[in-house]
Amino acid sequence: RPYHFYPVVSSTNDVAKELARQGAPEGALVVAEEQTGGRGRLGRAWHSPPGGLWFSLVLRPPVSPAATQSLPVLLSLAVTDGVAAFPLPSVEVKWPNDIVYQGKKVGGILVELGAEAEAVHFVVAGIGLNVNITSFPAPLEKTATSLQKIAGEALSRPQLLSAILAAAERYYSCWCREGFAPFREDYERRLCLLGREVEICCGGSVARGTVAGVDAEGRLVLVSPDGTKRRFVGGEVTFK
Ligand code: BTN
Repeated sequence: RPYHFYPVVSSTNDVAKELARQGAPEGALVVAEEQTGGRGRLGRAWHSPPGGLWFSLVLRPPVSPAATQSLPVLLSLAVTDGVAAFPLPSVEVKWPNDIVYQGKKVGGILVELGAEAEAVHFVVAGIGLNVNITSFPAPLEKTATSLQKIAGEALSRPQLLSAILAAAERYYSCWCREGFAPFREDYERRLCLLGREVEICCGGSVARGTVAGVDAEGRLVLVSPDGTKRRFVGGEVTFK
């Protein structure tokens, strides 16, 4: 696959988008040792010092823009698979796009689209994993952790990257044909939210309920106190 490595970039997602606009093929990979302008969801900054795994993939899925909504969910599953190739306590997924360990964030996924109307021209899937990071800035210390902290030793990032890419490739080709449905059960097994009482903030409104799981489109299914089921395509989930 076309492989682009940079010691420092602003954001691998921005580099990958530029490459995609210039015609980079599906599977093109951008990896950086450090990002100075790493971005997370909801306009947040993503702390990306040397030692982490910061990379982006160019994808060209034959689906509608709406269907790409389950892609971060799918990729978070591939990331936990890659991590499982190491002798580590297992990490979990927190819908829609987080990788967590004991409630602390280990990684995240930022999917961005180059699309218009019903056509997806490209997708940039950015994956960030706190691998060999030994300390975080004070505000993150309470909410973030790293694989090195969990394992008690540093991990091989090339090995981890290839394990994640192998899983991602397998999952993605199945997803292009069959959608998210085949992954639903596997995902729910690794979901740290199942059966938990949560609040979800989604476009200015807040809903509360118990997490029943995800549906065949990767949407989160919440059961309200009065028994009604609601599905969410995105949002910010907090425990209650
Ligand atoms: C999130 O949890 O909000 C998503 C974090 C995504 C971070 C990765 S690191 C590689 C890629 N480049 C970026 O600027 N962001 C993603």
